[in-house]
Amino acid sequence: MIDYDRYDRVRAVSWRGDALELLDQRVLPFEQRYLSCRDVDAVAEAIRDLVVRGAPAIGIAAAWGVVLAARQIQSASGAEAAAALQPAMEALHRARPTAVNLAWALARMRSLLERSGTDWRMRLEEEAAAIQDEDLVANRAMGSLGASLIEPGSGVLTHCNTGSLATAGFGTALGVIRAGVAEGRVGEVFAGETRPWLQGARLTVWELLQDGIPAKLIADSAAAHLMDQGKVRWVVVGADRITANGDVANKIGTYALAIAARHHGLKFMVVAPSSTVDMNTPTGADIEIEQRDPAELLAYGGQRTVADGVQAWNPVFDVTPAALVDALVTERGVLHKPDTEGMRAMFGCTAA
Ligand code: MRU
Repeated sequence: MIDYDRYDRVRAVSWRGDALELLDQRVLPFEQRYLSCRDVDAVAEAIRDLVVRGAPAIGIAAAWGVVLAARQIQSASGAEAAAALQPAMEALHRARPTAVNLAWALARMRSLLERSGTDWRMRLEEEAAAIQDEDLVANRAMGSLGASLIEPGSGVLTHCNTGSLATAGFGTALGVIRAGVAEGRVGEVFAGETRPWLQGARLTVWELLQDGIPAKLIADSAAAHLMDQGKVRWVVVGADRITANGDVANKIGTYALAIAARHHGLKFMVVAPSSTVDMNTPTGADIEIEQRDPAELLAYGGQRTVADGVQAWNPVFDVTPAALVDALVTERGVLHKPDTEGMRAMFGCTAA
């Protein structure tokens, strides 16, 4: 039994009744600053600017954004409110394109409204809370499922930040690592720094430090050498969108890790709640990959590191083909070697 008080100490998204409180991930780890969002525009901006980030967390924040938007409208029925809230939902949807959890959460809020009568306001708030609570439950379930695949004493490598900061709590890939450490299955944790935004360096190793889990940071470019040295048996990552054929969009660099893992005979695990599964998108080639400001690559901590006049290309996600995934862990169970048939059997025609 995992002691969640010990292995889950951080909360990124908290509903305060009149505002959404977000732990500002732009200034971690040296500052723990909270941002209070009192309207939907502030939530959309926080998602776009990475105050809140990580696929499940942005879905949860968007759901609360709809609750805040609802405070500005007067509608007699849920269906009327759904129509009135459409512009707010579109603004939230535009904030970030790749993680499907955002669209999924908005679709769930819209569907709730369409099924509600005069009590729609109360039910909308309950739905946002349910989206958040269910994510934590899913993460805890995935933690045990994923950890059970790891041979005792194994070294693991993770990428980006998939922990409590990226979810309602506990995390996806980081939840598996937490559960694995608690059960003695994970012997050593390595985290890639995750250029250019440094989710691994600024967030993951800080988050693990809060739990007292020792982790070693590596430069992203050290991953293949680490594997060659026999220091890891599993690469464990999260996902932003998993398509109907099992392809996985995740933080840029994930694809390279999957190729290197296969070359070295290591296992590659993807951990994500079913809210990240998009059965309406056939393959990874159909996913919109977010391009962010090239400036993220041209400076470090506000200090320019690249000569003036240099241009950069900054896609922030990539697609790992299903064929490179050994295990897909969701709260519904473990899918070994995901493919179209396995995905359909586990998630049906649509994930919703
Ligand atoms: O750009 P980010 O920081 O939002 O990207 C986050 C990731 O790629 C995560 O791996 C993914 O969202 C899963 S988080 C549980």
